Amino acid sequence: MRQTDFLVIGSGIAGLTYALKVANEFPDKNVLVMTKATADETNTKYAQGGIAVVNDLENDSFQKHIDDTLIAGDGLCNINVVEIVVKEGPERVQEIIDWGAKFDKEKDGDYKRGKEGGHSEFRILHHKDVTGKEMERALIDAVAKQKNIEFIKHCFVVDIITQHHLGYLVNKATPDVACYGVYVLNLETGKIEKILAKITLLATGGNGQVYRTTTNPSIATGDGVAMVYRAKGRIENMEFIQFHPTALYEPGVRGQAFLITEAVRGDGGILRNNSGEAFMGKYDPRKDLAPRDIVARAIDSEMKKTGTEHVWLDCRHFSKEKFTEHFPNIYEKCLSIGIDITKHMIPVAPAAHYSCGGIKTDEWGRSSIWNLYACGECASTGLHGANRLASNSLLEAMVFAHRCYMDSTAHLNPPERRTSQSHKGQLYGEQKNFRISGSVQGQIPPSGGGEAVPDWNAAGTTEPKEMILITQSLKELQLVMSDYVGIVRNDVRLQRAMRRLDLLWEETEQLYESSSLSPQLLELRNMITVGYLIVKGASFRKESRGLHYNTDYPGKSNLIQNIVL
Ligand code: FAD
Ligand code: SIN
Repeated sequence: MRQTDFLVIGSGIAGLTYALKVANEFPDKNVLVMTKATADETNTKYAQGGIAVVNDLENDSFQKHIDDTLIAGDGLCNINVVEIVVKEGPERVQEIIDWGAKFDKEKDGDYKRGKEGGHSEFRILHHKDVTGKEMERALIDAVAKQKNIEFIKHCFVVDIITQHHLGYLVNKATPDVACYGVYVLNLETGKIEKILAKITLLATGGNGQVYRTTTNPSIATGDGVAMVYRAKGRIENMEFIQFHPTALYEPGVRGQAFLITEAVRGDGGILRNNSGEAFMGKYDPRKDLAPRDIVARAIDSEMKKTGTEHVWLDCRHFSKEKFTEHFPNIYEKCLSIGIDITKHMIPVAPAAHYSCGGIKTDEWGRSSIWNLYACGECASTGLHGANRLASNSLLEAMVFAHRCYMDSTAHLNPPERRTSQSHKGQLYGEQKNFRISGSVQGQIPPSGGGEAVPDWNAAGTTEPKEMILITQSLKELQLVMSDYVGIVRNDVRLQRAMRRLDLLWEETEQLYESSSLSPQLLELRNMITVGYLIVKGASFRKESRGLHYNTDYPGKSNLIQNIVL
């Protein structure tokens, strides 16, 4: 058993920003950062376009960024949160610059600013087309200098510990569910360890791997959301999965697809269908720079009409110098597969990219579970509503990491019971039959303590005999989600998806009950839970709004609601 003051799960922009802040303010306290992968294998590392921020008040304004965010969010953003993120953003961006992140500059020393879909101004700071890699590098370097941060890699967090593990009945109606820490599978020893913490932050990122093709790396399996759901915390708006319009289409490639940043269209790239027609004008007056939901649906419609698996992104009118100055990584990637962007068009297709919903938090990053905070892509703060504005997520992660730091450190000594979060929106759905191992009778631990938390109970489990039971179920899950719960949905498809997920769930639970745990099994189990939450949210939403388009309900409902599960 280990004990720490602050436990941070995830080493992307959200987790590392929070860790740096608390470690800096409390040099005598321990901060433990854990990741299931290598230090920098995160969605953050792959971010290309940049970070949207207002830092040119001559040509831009907070109000314009707020309006752009609200328009993209299609009526479902929390206006208060939008104002917080936009207005606090510049200070947070300056902090990461002070930690060493470099953004491209003009010859006169001013920042270069890019544009992406849905933005009315050029406001996206970037580091060529590898902005996330640069930000992650700066954060990891800064963390390495902070003596009271311990960074543990290859540790897979299995579940958060609550009263449930002490033998108490916990359900959705339990008002005081508290987090005492986590159970972790140490991937080096294969043992499950117990880590107790006064404050736990979930910064576990997105869930793109639930779909067959995604821009997300393999870590993006929605673990944090699944854990909170199992622990009876609140999850919100999971139906709003953002498909990026332009992932590179490579025949036969499944899983992570290479992104062609929207900034390419911001600089003048043009989408064309199989006949060479620049089709976006038929769908939206903003053409190639309409918000992402509109562009992805337009591409989907063109692909269906022509029976092709991709459309084209035309950059042939760029000079090589201009293109490589901003997009050297994309240029090299295309060249490596025989595409010279000055001569050939780039084949592109939509791919799952970003989860707008997630663990419901308030404006301080507090989840519905005591002592448990969430920020970054795993959280649903209210910023994105029904569709995230491009390049707003790195900004959101930093603003909310700061807010989690402010609130959690104010409540640290002794850990206070705060007043319950009010959950706007309707509460739907019954949790299915989730088993959490290791539950025994015990005493409620003293506040912030955890002496009574039992060790993980793996009695009676054996090594799984056949990995194919896991790998095949994963393929099935990804197919079901891509074919029935993709860009365009309807009730029949959603019902079919739910029936298939039920079967996958049943089979995977049997495996989980009887097997010693592996990351593959844990991720599959989490992804089925996330798939279930997406389908459930999509089934409850009887309208088409933002990223959720259901042909049975093509219009918007007058009832504006968040779907809380
Ligand atoms: P991540 O950076 O994904 O980090 C998650 C961390 O959690 C990882 O360390 C992971 O290992 C760890 N983890 C997960 N589960 C467990 C577990 N069970 N146990 C232990 N550790 C766990 N946004 C923008 O604003 N601008 C952009 O230009 C942009 N471009 C993008 C391009 C691509 C290709 C992608 C995929 C995303 C892009 N995004 C962009 C979105 C943005 O990058 C992400 O939303 C953001 O980086 C998420 O940061 P995070 O800290 O929340 O999560
Ligand atoms: C991109 O660069 O196109 C991705 C930006 C984002 O997801 O915000």
